Amino acid sequence: MNAPPFSEEEKRGVYRAIYERRDIRSQFLPKPIPPAVLARILDAAHHAPSVGFMQPWDFIVIEDTRIRRAIHENFERANQRASDLYKGARRDSYDRMKLAGILDAPMNLCITCDRERNTGHGLGRQTDPATDLYSTVCAVQNLWLAARAEALGVGWVSILDLAELKTLLEIPDRHTVVAYLCVGYVSEFRPAPELEENGWERRQSLSALVHFDRWGAHDEQRSMGLATGDV
Ligand SMILES: Cc1cc2nc3c(=O)[nH]c(=O)nc-3n(C[C@H](O)[C@H](O)[C@H](O)COP(=O)(O)O)c2cc1C
Repeated sequence: MNAPPFSEEEKRGVYRAIYERRDIRSQFLPKPIPPAVLARILDAAHHAPSVGFMQPWDFIVIEDTRIRRAIHENFERANQRASDLYKGARRDSYDRMKLAGILDAPMNLCITCDRERNTGHGLGRQTDPATDLYSTVCAVQNLWLAARAEALGVGWVSILDLAELKTLLEIPDRHTVVAYLCVGYVSEFRPAPELEENGWERRQSLSALVHFDRWGAHDEQRSMGLATGDV
């Protein structure tokens, strides 16, 4: 059966999820996530594209407070080390930002990539072995967008000692941690990235990043139609 085209409303829904998705750190509510909603967002992740249809991902659902506390401590130490790399006003600005909601969110998810899974029989990975990792990132993004449609916030925490995290969660060696996510209902979705609101970074101009036919060719005329993606 050939699927019908998206209606205008369905299209708007897809773009709305994309533009209104935010990285959440401070606005988590303790409200529990119903199992059916968790199942839907995990299944959305599981329907991501993957190299050779490898499906290299696993999802660890973490609710246990003791485990989350240990991971939060891991974050605090890693965050201190990261802060030490900045100086002056940039460091002050870094230190003012809240960069994880590990204990505020009722649920954390660790998404891993099995570097040796035989599903897909190596198709596509013979030439680029990193494509299993890219596939897992696609799963993360699917989950992030589905979560937004479910009114769930997601915050990605990369400021972690990953070796320590693997030990803590008893993840076997051959699996790479791709993402550590905080998930939960939120008090609000900010209209713009918090890092932009805090003056840390701005959204770049899309037309400066789009090249036509060869690197460095920015066609004024053709760039005119490029939307910024801001809402
Ligand atoms: C791979 C990856 C790692 C990230 N790690 C962190 C992190 O450790 N802490 C944090 O506060 N935000 C983290 N973020 C979120 C980004 O800061 C955020 O996506 C960006 O500022 C744009 O904001 P938005 O997601 O709300 O549009 C991460 C995002 C990605 C894609």
